[in-house]
Amino acid sequence: MDTDVTRRRFLAAVSAGAATVAIGGLPKLVTAAITGKPTFRLGGDLSVNRLGFGAMRLITNEEIWGWPADRENAKKVLQRAVELGVNLIDTADAYGPETDELLIAEALYPYPKDLLIATKGGITRPSAGDWTENGRPDYLSQCVDKSLKRLKLERIDLYQLHAVDRKVPIEESMGALKAAQDAGKIRHVGLSNVTVEEIERAKKVLPVVSIQNRYNITSRKSDDVLRYCEKEQMGFLPWAPVGGTGKHSLTKTGNPLEAEAKRHNVTAIQLGLAWLLQKSPVILPIPGTSSIAHLEENMAAEKIQLAPDEWKRIESLASAA
Ligand SMILES: NC(=O)c1ccc[n+]([C@@H]2O[C@H](COP(=O)([O-])OP(=O)(O)OC[C@H]3O[C@@H](n4cnc5c(N)ncnc54)[C@H](OP(=O)(O)O)[C@@H]3O)[C@@H](O)[C@H]2O)c1
Repeated sequence: MDTDVTRRRFLAAVSAGAATVAIGGLPKLVTAAITGKPTFRLGGDLSVNRLGFGAMRLITNEEIWGWPADRENAKKVLQRAVELGVNLIDTADAYGPETDELLIAEALYPYPKDLLIATKGGITRPSAGDWTENGRPDYLSQCVDKSLKRLKLERIDLYQLHAVDRKVPIEESMGALKAAQDAGKIRHVGLSNVTVEEIERAKKVLPVVSIQNRYNITSRKSDDVLRYCEKEQMGFLPWAPVGGTGKHSLTKTGNPLEAEAKRHNVTAIQLGLAWLLQKSPVILPIPGTSSIAHLEENMAAEKIQLAPDEWKRIESLASAA
């Protein structure tokens, strides 16, 4: 891992000079220059900037179905993300389905050298409202081939099992991904929506480098999985890092971080993302948006750093809500 934990603990007490985040008027916020972005070495060999981008929200309807309402805008958002330093983009064949991966290739191919596209397979979309697991090995093998084609890649850097199919033992699903890895089609394998027990079973078949579960300051059911990732030095990609479109989303007025955010002259969304970044060096948030302005706001969150006791207080406020 690139991120040195001791250095980060020290840096947690200070704040990066915030170019785009207003940070004035905060007694506990000290400013200091930190060069570069915090990075994580995924699978031990792929260095990524920790604040990534979730591409699902480019499909601008509730069902994540079809093409975005404004396809050119979606491509601009992806291009702006890369300009702002994002080199970890999360997608899945189920988004659209297929259109999200196609959009990424349309917007960014030929890809920058250091760009890591993390896709997923194992969920089918029979209709707009339907997300159905299929972890059968023959199906997953096909998914890998089709994602390679849509993304115009020779090898997928991170391929994630989108969800466990309760009808198929996880060992069998992993067997198909191991075969794809042995064939050079996948570099690293990750899992999504899993328990610690499922991770351990999968790891008996092949190395697993990352986990993607729902996690944010107001929804921390996956704390045990996060701790496991820390112990095993695996990346943890929290989905819905700002709460998605749910009732408790940090995008909604009346959210539990509203007052604190105001006090720190930042937005609740930025505070929620910064909380994730300081929470653990293995956390790689992938906030999703279809708006360039929101993307810029989100990316500025990596500049926010507060003293550890401030974070503890903010965390307990969110827990109490
Ligand atoms: N593995 C899984 O099962 C799974 C499930 C869900 C998602 N994911 C992945 O995780 C990524 C993130 O999850 P998510 O998109 O559900 O949740 P999220 O990133 O927590 O929230 C996205 C929502 O917040 C809004 N938003 C983002 N930034 C904003 C800002 N600065 N101001 C106001 N609104 C803002 C977006 O709308 P606007 O477009 O209006 O900005 C969007 O509706 C997805 O894109 C996808 O790649 C994975």
